[in-house]
Amino acid sequence: MTFLKYIPKLILPIVLLFSLQACGEDDRSQRDDQEETTEAGLTEFELEHGIGPVTERIEIDDEIDQELVTKGRNIYEMKCEMCHNMEGRMVGPQLGDVMEHRSPEFVMNFILNPSGMTREHPVGQELLQEYMTSMPFQNVKEDEARAIVEFLRDYKRNN
Ligand code: HEC
Repeated sequence: MTFLKYIPKLILPIVLLFSLQACGEDDRSQRDDQEETTEAGLTEFELEHGIGPVTERIEIDDEIDQELVTKGRNIYEMKCEMCHNMEGRMVGPQLGDVMEHRSPEFVMNFILNPSGMTREHPVGQELLQEYMTSMPFQNVKEDEARAIVEFLRDYKRNN
């Protein structure tokens, strides 16, 4: 039974090995457990709906909420209009038709996390290359981003 005295010496390296492995597991790989990743290293959700605080589909009524539209329009005029037109390119892309080719979650994540989107998302990377200015985070809260989406949806319906 002399090999018993080696057991403590064997256990230590094994414990070390496991704890090192645990360190390597950042939150990206935890997210990978939840969903298949795509080529860009993003989850399917991130690829379609953007990277940022909005991590699941939000519920949106078909009917437009006019109160939310007014709130969104006010924020838009204060914080977005200096760089965006509804029709035609300015510092940034035109936004009048953005709801036709992006999901509400994507637009919200772009507003809430513009630097992350241009760094890590293929669409954001492409836009940055094209416009060569980084959209700054405008200190917009999640409910305000939601209101801007309503304003953009309303615009699209009426134009
Ligand atoms: C300083 C200029 C600037 C301001 C202010 C700004 N943006 Fe942008 N925006 C850009 C640029 C430039 C891009 C293209 C991506 C890039 O280069 O960062 C962009 C991209 C976007 C996109 C992605 C468009 C697409 O086709 O997917 C959305 C949505 C957007 N902006 C919405 C907003 C909203 C809403 C606000 C106000 C809260 C705002 N932006 C404020 C410059 C700006």
